[in-house]
Amino acid sequence: MSAEKLDGREAAKSVRNRIAADVRSFSETGRSPGLGVVLVGDNPASLSYVRGKEKACEEVGIHSREIRLGADVSQTEVLETVLALNDDEGIDGILVQLPLPDHVDERRVLEAIDPSKDVDGLHRFSLGTLMLGEEGFIPCTPYGVIELLKHYEIPTNGRHVVVLGRSMLVGKSLANLLLRRGEYGDATVTICHSRTPDLSVHTLQADILIAAMGRPALVTGEMVREGSVVIDVGVSRVDDPSKKRGYRLQGDVDYEAAAERAAWITPVPGGVGPMTITMLLQNTLDAARHRVEMSGSGSAPR
Ligand code: GUN
Repeated sequence: MSAEKLDGREAAKSVRNRIAADVRSFSETGRSPGLGVVLVGDNPASLSYVRGKEKACEEVGIHSREIRLGADVSQTEVLETVLALNDDEGIDGILVQLPLPDHVDERRVLEAIDPSKDVDGLHRFSLGTLMLGEEGFIPCTPYGVIELLKHYEIPTNGRHVVVLGRSMLVGKSLANLLLRRGEYGDATVTICHSRTPDLSVHTLQADILIAAMGRPALVTGEMVREGSVVIDVGVSRVDDPSKKRGYRLQGDVDYEAAAERAAWITPVPGGVGPMTITMLLQNTLDAARHRVEMSGSGSAPR
Protein backbone atom coordinates (compact mmCIF):
# COMPACT_ATOMS: atom_id res chain seq x y z
CA MET A 1 0.00 0.00 0.00
CA SER A 2 1.15 3.52 -0.64
CA ALA A 3 -0.42 6.00 1.73
CA GLU A 4 -2.45 9.03 0.77
CA LYS A 5 -1.07 12.29 2.05
CA LEU A 6 -2.83 14.19 4.83
CA ASP A 7 -1.93 17.58 3.45
CA GLY A 8 -1.82 20.08 6.31
CA ARG A 9 -1.18 23.01 3.97
CA GLU A 10 -4.30 22.31 1.97
CA ALA A 11 -6.44 21.75 5.07
CA ALA A 12 -5.01 24.89 6.69
CA LYS A 13 -5.79 26.95 3.60
CA SER A 14 -9.39 25.90 3.66
CA VAL A 15 -9.81 26.56 7.41
CA ARG A 16 -7.94 29.89 7.15
CA ASN A 17 -10.21 31.10 4.34
CA ARG A 18 -13.15 30.55 6.66
CA ILE A 19 -11.35 32.27 9.56
CA ALA A 20 -10.45 35.26 7.34
CA ALA A 21 -14.13 35.68 6.44
CA ASP A 22 -15.08 35.45 10.13
CA VAL A 23 -12.38 38.00 11.05
CA ARG A 24 -13.74 40.40 8.39
CA SER A 25 -17.20 40.12 9.81
CA PHE A 26 -15.88 40.50 13.39
CA SER A 27 -13.93 43.60 12.34
CA GLU A 28 -17.17 45.31 11.32
CA THR A 29 -17.61 45.81 15.07
CA GLY A 30 -14.84 48.43 14.85
CA ARG A 31 -11.73 46.49 15.82
CA SER A 32 -9.71 43.53 14.63
CA PRO A 33 -8.68 40.64 16.91
CA GLY A 34 -5.25 41.18 18.49
CA LEU A 35 -2.55 38.65 19.42
CA GLY A 36 0.44 39.43 21.65
CA VAL A 37 3.45 37.19 21.10
CA VAL A 38 6.27 37.05 23.65
CA LEU A 39 9.55 35.68 22.37
CA VAL A 40 12.47 35.28 24.77
CA GLY A 41 15.98 34.79 23.39
CA ASP A 42 17.00 33.90 19.85
CA ASN A 43 16.37 30.18 19.47
CA PRO A 44 16.26 29.83 15.64
CA ALA A 45 13.38 27.34 15.66
CA SER A 46 11.31 29.59 17.95
CA LEU A 47 12.08 32.60 15.77
CA SER A 48 10.93 30.73 12.72
CA TYR A 49 7.69 29.56 14.43
CA VAL A 50 6.93 33.08 15.63
CA ARG A 51 7.48 34.50 12.13
CA GLY A 52 5.10 31.89 10.74
CA LYS A 53 2.46 32.76 13.33
CA GLU A 54 2.73 36.50 12.66
CA LYS A 55 2.54 36.05 8.89
CA ALA A 56 -0.55 33.86 9.27
CA CYS A 57 -2.17 36.49 11.51
CA GLU A 58 -1.57 39.17 8.91
CA GLU A 59 -3.04 37.00 6.16
CA VAL A 60 -6.37 36.57 7.95
CA GLY A 61 -6.57 40.15 9.29
CA ILE A 62 -5.54 39.51 12.93
CA HIS A 63 -3.34 42.23 14.36
CA SER A 64 -0.22 40.81 16.05
CA ARG A 65 2.30 42.45 18.32
CA GLU A 66 5.64 40.82 19.00
CA ILE A 67 7.52 41.51 22.21
CA ARG A 68 11.13 40.34 22.06
CA LEU A 69 13.07 39.91 25.26
CA GLY A 70 16.76 39.02 25.58
CA ALA A 71 17.80 35.52 26.68
CA ASP A 72 19.11 37.00 29.96
CA VAL A 73 15.81 38.69 30.87
CA SER A 74 14.70 38.20 34.47
CA GLN A 75 11.70 36.12 35.46
CA THR A 76 10.09 39.30 36.84
CA GLU A 77 10.41 41.10 33.52
CA VAL A 78 8.78 38.21 31.66
CA LEU A 79 5.93 38.18 34.19
CA GLU A 80 5.52 41.96 33.92
CA THR A 81 5.35 41.68 30.13
CA VAL A 82 2.56 39.12 30.40
CA LEU A 83 0.67 41.21 32.98
CA ALA A 84 0.88 44.27 30.72
CA LEU A 85 -0.62 42.24 27.84
CA ASN A 86 -3.38 41.02 30.20
CA ASP A 87 -4.33 44.68 30.78
CA ASP A 88 -4.02 45.71 27.14
CA GLU A 89 -7.48 46.28 25.63
CA GLY A 90 -6.16 45.83 22.08
CA ILE A 91 -4.89 42.32 22.84
CA ASP A 92 -7.32 39.39 22.88
CA GLY A 93 -4.84 36.53 22.96
CA ILE A 94 -1.38 35.99 24.44
CA LEU A 95 1.19 33.48 23.30
CA VAL A 96 4.48 32.97 25.10
CA GLN A 97 6.69 31.00 22.75
CA LEU A 98 8.24 27.95 24.42
CA PRO A 99 10.78 26.84 25.42
CA LEU A 100 11.82 29.63 27.78
CA PRO A 101 15.43 29.88 29.04
CA ASP A 102 16.20 27.56 31.97
CA HIS A 103 16.26 30.35 34.57
CA VAL A 104 12.65 31.31 33.77
CA ASP A 105 9.93 29.18 35.35
CA GLU A 106 7.74 28.24 32.38
CA ARG A 107 4.74 27.20 34.48
CA ARG A 108 4.74 30.45 36.46
CA VAL A 109 4.78 32.45 33.24
CA LEU A 110 1.95 30.43 31.68
CA GLU A 111 -0.12 30.78 34.88
CA ALA A 112 0.30 34.57 34.72
CA ILE A 113 -1.67 34.73 31.46
CA ASP A 114 -5.28 35.84 31.93
CA PRO A 115 -7.23 32.61 31.19
CA SER A 116 -9.60 34.57 28.95
CA LYS A 117 -6.58 35.41 26.74
CA ASP A 118 -4.95 31.95 26.91
CA VAL A 119 -5.14 31.20 23.18
CA ASP A 120 -2.33 28.66 23.50
CA GLY A 121 -4.49 26.66 25.92
CA LEU A 122 -1.62 25.94 28.30
CA HIS A 123 -2.85 27.68 31.46
CA ARG A 124 -3.99 25.22 34.12
CA PHE A 125 -7.49 26.64 33.79
CA SER A 126 -7.62 25.71 30.08
CA LEU A 127 -6.05 22.31 30.72
CA GLY A 128 -8.52 21.61 33.54
CA THR A 129 -11.39 22.63 31.30
CA LEU A 130 -10.14 20.27 28.63
CA MET A 131 -9.92 17.42 31.13
CA LEU A 132 -13.48 18.13 32.25
CA GLY A 133 -14.57 17.89 28.62
CA GLU A 134 -15.97 21.43 28.73
CA GLU A 135 -15.66 24.29 26.25
CA GLY A 136 -12.44 26.27 26.50
CA PHE A 137 -9.19 27.01 24.71
CA ILE A 138 -7.65 23.85 23.31
CA PRO A 139 -3.85 23.73 22.88
CA CYS A 140 -3.16 24.48 19.23
CA THR A 141 -1.27 21.36 18.15
CA PRO A 142 -3.81 18.81 19.50
CA TYR A 143 -6.60 21.01 18.16
CA GLY A 144 -4.84 21.06 14.77
CA VAL A 145 -4.57 17.27 14.71
CA ILE A 146 -8.31 16.91 15.32
CA GLU A 147 -9.14 19.51 12.65
CA LEU A 148 -6.87 17.75 10.17
CA LEU A 149 -8.73 14.47 10.76
CA LYS A 150 -12.01 16.35 10.37
CA HIS A 151 -10.89 17.90 7.09
CA TYR A 152 -10.16 14.45 5.68
CA GLU A 153 -13.29 12.98 7.26
CA ILE A 154 -11.35 10.39 9.24
CA PRO A 155 -13.47 9.58 12.30
CA THR A 156 -12.02 8.66 15.67
CA ASN A 157 -15.16 7.20 17.24
CA GLY A 158 -14.53 3.67 18.43
CA ARG A 159 -11.05 3.70 16.87
CA HIS A 160 -7.94 2.72 18.77
CA VAL A 161 -5.62 5.74 18.82
CA VAL A 162 -2.07 5.19 20.02
CA VAL A 163 -0.31 8.38 21.07
CA LEU A 164 3.47 8.36 21.43
CA GLY A 165 4.47 11.09 23.91
CA ARG A 166 3.05 12.35 27.18
CA SER A 167 3.78 16.08 27.02
CA MET A 168 1.17 18.55 28.18
CA LEU A 169 1.63 20.45 24.91
CA VAL A 170 0.63 17.46 22.78
CA GLY A 171 0.29 13.88 24.11
CA LYS A 172 -1.75 14.32 27.28
CA SER A 173 -3.92 17.07 25.80
CA LEU A 174 -4.58 15.08 22.66
CA ALA A 175 -5.55 12.01 24.68
CA ASN A 176 -8.09 14.09 26.61
CA LEU A 177 -9.55 15.49 23.40
CA LEU A 178 -9.87 12.05 21.86
CA LEU A 179 -11.63 10.77 24.98
CA ARG A 180 -14.35 13.43 24.85
CA ARG A 181 -17.81 12.22 24.06
CA GLY A 182 -19.10 12.89 20.55
CA GLU A 183 -17.70 13.50 17.09
CA TYR A 184 -13.92 13.36 16.79
CA GLY A 185 -13.79 11.95 20.29
CA ASP A 186 -15.02 8.59 21.60
CA ALA A 187 -11.69 6.96 20.82
CA THR A 188 -9.96 4.22 22.76
CA VAL A 189 -6.64 5.81 23.65
CA THR A 190 -3.28 4.32 24.54
CA ILE A 191 -0.47 6.68 25.56
CA CYS A 192 3.09 5.43 25.21
CA HIS A 193 6.23 7.32 26.21
CA SER A 194 9.98 7.12 26.53
CA ARG A 195 9.73 4.49 29.30
CA THR A 196 7.34 2.19 27.44
CA PRO A 197 9.34 -1.05 26.94
CA ASP A 198 8.30 -2.17 23.46
CA LEU A 199 6.57 0.55 21.49
CA SER A 200 5.78 -1.67 18.53
CA VAL A 201 3.55 -3.95 20.66
CA HIS A 202 1.27 -0.92 20.92
CA THR A 203 1.82 0.85 17.61
CA LEU A 204 0.88 -2.31 15.70
CA GLN A 205 -2.55 -2.21 17.40
CA ALA A 206 -3.25 1.35 16.28
CA ASP A 207 -6.00 2.37 13.90
CA ILE A 208 -4.56 5.86 14.24
CA LEU A 209 -0.95 6.36 15.34
CA ILE A 210 0.11 9.81 16.54
CA ALA A 211 3.84 10.32 17.07
CA ALA A 212 4.79 13.21 19.35
CA MET A 213 7.97 12.27 21.17
CA GLY A 214 10.39 14.63 19.43
CA ARG A 215 12.64 11.70 18.46
CA PRO A 216 13.63 11.86 14.78
CA ALA A 217 12.49 8.85 12.73
CA LEU A 218 11.63 6.86 15.86
CA VAL A 219 8.72 5.14 14.10
CA THR A 220 10.02 2.70 11.53
CA GLY A 221 7.98 1.04 8.80
CA GLU A 222 7.73 -2.22 10.79
CA MET A 223 6.02 -0.36 13.63
CA VAL A 224 3.14 0.77 11.44
CA ARG A 225 -0.01 -1.29 11.14
CA GLU A 226 -1.12 -2.00 7.58
CA GLY A 227 -3.94 0.36 6.54
CA SER A 228 -3.63 2.69 9.55
CA VAL A 229 -3.56 6.47 9.77
CA VAL A 230 -0.20 7.97 10.81
CA ILE A 231 0.07 11.49 12.17
CA ASP A 232 3.54 12.87 12.75
CA VAL A 233 3.72 15.75 15.21
CA GLY A 234 7.51 15.68 15.62
CA VAL A 235 9.71 18.29 13.98
CA SER A 236 13.46 18.06 14.62
CA ARG A 237 16.32 19.74 12.84
CA VAL A 238 18.81 17.09 11.76
CA ASP A 239 22.18 17.84 10.15
CA ASP A 240 22.12 17.43 6.39
CA PRO A 241 25.17 18.70 4.51
CA SER A 242 23.31 18.22 1.20
CA LYS A 243 21.00 21.13 2.15
CA LYS A 244 22.07 24.73 1.70
CA ARG A 245 21.09 25.61 5.27
CA GLY A 246 22.93 22.53 6.61
CA TYR A 247 19.91 20.79 8.13
CA ARG A 248 16.54 19.32 7.26
CA LEU A 249 13.32 18.96 9.19
CA GLN A 250 12.67 15.38 10.28
CA GLY A 251 9.51 14.09 11.89
CA ASP A 252 9.20 11.28 14.44
CA VAL A 253 8.24 8.90 11.63
CA ASP A 254 10.35 7.41 8.85
CA TYR A 255 7.95 8.75 6.22
CA GLU A 256 8.96 6.66 3.20
CA ALA A 257 8.86 3.35 5.08
CA ALA A 258 5.66 4.16 6.98
CA ALA A 259 3.91 5.30 3.79
CA GLU A 260 4.40 1.78 2.38
CA ARG A 261 2.04 0.42 5.02
CA ALA A 262 -0.25 3.25 6.15
CA ALA A 263 -3.45 4.29 4.41
CA TRP A 264 -2.97 7.96 5.33
CA ILE A 265 0.09 9.84 6.54
CA THR A 266 1.14 13.41 7.31
CA PRO A 267 4.37 14.75 5.80
CA VAL A 268 6.91 16.82 7.75
CA PRO A 269 6.95 19.69 7.02
CA GLY A 270 3.48 20.45 5.66
CA GLY A 271 1.42 18.19 7.92
CA VAL A 272 0.46 19.14 11.45
CA GLY A 273 2.54 22.38 11.56
CA PRO A 274 0.27 24.54 9.36
CA MET A 275 -2.75 23.30 11.31
CA THR A 276 -1.19 24.28 14.65
CA ILE A 277 -0.82 27.87 13.47
CA THR A 278 -4.33 27.82 12.03
CA MET A 279 -5.85 26.85 15.37
CA LEU A 280 -3.98 29.69 17.06
CA LEU A 281 -5.82 32.02 14.67
CA GLN A 282 -9.12 30.33 15.52
CA ASN A 283 -8.50 30.62 19.27
CA THR A 284 -7.55 34.30 18.92
CA LEU A 285 -10.73 35.04 16.99
CA ASP A 286 -12.77 33.13 19.58
CA ALA A 287 -11.08 35.09 22.40
CA ALA A 288 -11.91 38.38 20.67
CA ARG A 289 -15.53 37.38 20.13
CA HIS A 290 -15.84 36.31 23.73
CA ARG A 291 -14.45 39.62 25.01
CA VAL A 292 -16.86 41.59 22.87
CA GLU A 293 -19.75 39.48 24.12
CA MET A 294 -18.64 40.00 27.72
CA SER A 295 -18.19 43.76 27.33
CA GLY A 296 -21.39 44.11 25.33
CA SER A 297 -19.58 46.46 22.95
CA GLY A 298 -17.63 46.06 19.76
CA SER A 299 -15.55 49.17 20.11
CA ALA A 300 -12.96 48.43 22.77
CA PRO A 301 -10.09 50.92 22.42
CA ARG A 302 -7.02 49.89 20.44
N1 GUN B 1 6.77 25.77 21.10
C1 GUN B 1 6.54 24.68 20.33
N2 GUN B 1 5.21 24.49 20.19
C2 GUN B 1 4.60 25.47 20.89
C3 GUN B 1 3.23 25.82 21.12
O1 GUN B 1 2.28 25.17 20.66
N3 GUN B 1 3.02 26.90 21.91
C4 GUN B 1 4.04 27.62 22.42
N4 GUN B 1 3.74 28.67 23.18
N5 GUN B 1 5.31 27.34 22.22
C5 GUN B 1 5.58 26.26 21.46
